[in-house]
Amino acid sequence: MNQIARRATFATAALSLLFVAGCRQDMQDQPKFFPQRGTAFYADGRSVRPQVENTVARNQLHEDGYFYTGLVNGKEGDGMPFPATLQVLERGQEQYNVYCTPCHSRVGNGIGMIVQRGYMKAGSFHTARLESAPLGHFFHVISNGYGAMPDYSGQIAPADRWAIVAYVKALQLSQKATQADVPAGSHVEPLASIAEGQGLPASFADEWTLPPTAVTGTPDNGLFVLPAPGSGAATTGAVAPSRTNAVPPAAAPAGQTVPKQ
Ligand code: HEC
Repeated sequence: MNQIARRATFATAALSLLFVAGCRQDMQDQPKFFPQRGTAFYADGRSVRPQVENTVARNQLHEDGYFYTGLVNGKEGDGMPFPATLQVLERGQEQYNVYCTPCHSRVGNGIGMIVQRGYMKAGSFHTARLESAPLGHFFHVISNGYGAMPDYSGQIAPADRWAIVAYVKALQLSQKATQADVPAGSHVEPLASIAEGQGLPASFADEWTLPPTAVTGTPDNGLFVLPAPGSGAATTGAVAPSRTNAVPPAAAPAGQTVPKQ
């Protein structure tokens, strides 16, 4: 191969390399909109376009209004949009225990763990008003929130919200069930005798109170401040948060009621 031919080969190779680099101009670099970022392209500055009026996006035709709202003609309806089978109740129990117990506790008395830590007391489900409330009310509360309670429509799908509603109803019934409420062959037993049957004192099922010495939060409702690195607390393994807000401690809350878990 003479020198000219070699140079030509080299030039061709260099050129094709340039083309290969050009291929990096891929979709990554094309003009596009980023979610939640503005744009100068549209006059209103929003990259996301509002839904066109009087149109329904695919999968958003919610024809079964009750299933999605719990409302009949704007009023809370009383009924399940599908049968409350054992499977539905089990799913409801699982979802209730995940999403509701931190505030409402496993028995639904409204004294969940974060309430014990100072969150506003969540409503007890075992009041005459809520015992006679229509099922749609519970669905509505989960979907839209209620007073200090945030809504859970983003976290819990409608079918699971209904499953929770069915389970809350079961929780309410379970507190006062009599033999007449259960099918023949099933047996209703008070919690105290179940405790005794398992070798525990009958008083195990009673509401119990925290001893006054128990720590349920900071005594003055101040903030716990994590120990600074190298302050020594970490090396001794002691969990001893340092306090910076020197407000004099108020009397420790005595005799707090705790839910039976
Ligand atoms: C972050 C704490 C919190 C969580 C989690 C929570 N709730 Fe609540 N809930 C509250 C509080 C607080 C209230 C009382 C609100 C008020 O009266 O302002 C309440 C009230 C209620 C009420 C009573 C409404 C009425 O008519 O008085 C129902 C029913 C209810 N919650 C159901 C649920 C269900 C079901 C879940 C789980 C999906 C749930 N909550 C999760 C805090 C919570």
